Amino acid sequence: MFTVDLHSHILPWMDDGADDLDVSLSLLHKEAADGVRQIVLSSHFHPLDENVAEFRIRRNSSFRQLKKAIENSDLAGKFDLRPAAEIRYNPSLLEIEDLGTLCIDGTKVLLIEFSTQHFPEFVQDVFYRLQTKGYIPVMAHVERFPWLRDNPEFLYNMVCGGAYAQVNADSIVKSKESLSFIRRMMDCGLIHCIGTDTHNMTKRPPHMKEAEKVLASNPGSDVVDYMDEIGRTLLAGRIPNAIIPSKPKKSFWDFFRK
Ligand SMILES: [Fe+2]
Repeated sequence: MFTVDLHSHILPWMDDGADDLDVSLSLLHKEAADGVRQIVLSSHFHPLDENVAEFRIRRNSSFRQLKKAIENSDLAGKFDLRPAAEIRYNPSLLEIEDLGTLCIDGTKVLLIEFSTQHFPEFVQDVFYRLQTKGYIPVMAHVERFPWLRDNPEFLYNMVCGGAYAQVNADSIVKSKESLSFIRRMMDCGLIHCIGTDTHNMTKRPPHMKEAEKVLASNPGSDVVDYMDEIGRTLLAGRIPNAIIPSKPKKSFWDFFRK
């Protein structure tokens, strides 16, 4: 069972996620029904738009109010909630002195998202340097980038370099093309953990249980347990014992791509 949601926009008023506390609580009710118990609250942070101190002030206020609302509801005591950030990749991350405060609370994990349009310049060097400072980089929803899907060897190189890869539950549930890519990458040991990336109850509700059913439908597959174990290990502040990756083979369709 998936018990860890490594990526969500449940904190209210922070970004394009939950608009208010009612939405946050609705999202949490669905997470509880799905069996999720640990949730990373990864509001968007763009290093070129805001400084870390301002972000933290906004996040503390939002988290305080969410905790209070939970305590006054039937969700009290149900979750281990971890403030964090979904950090937009930029080489300038290396210059941020208080970058550590953007880690998933209680860990050294940085959840980092790339641009959908552009290849992340210098990323291997930047991730290497982050790791020399003790950070553990997790790449957010790796299945969502067209440039990455066209070049899965990039994912292989990043994972060999010590990064972890997160996928979205929605991509597993809603898109056959994404699911096919995710399965190919899973077979190569290039996918490690899952998040809902939930924003609201209308267009982007949490689909953890639905994703679990899709993945568990493969007879003999232990991928759900594997990914959940990695999520729990990361949140416990330890380095997960991941499968040794293998290089992805080109798919039939890759031969028709440029
Ligand atoms: Fe996100």
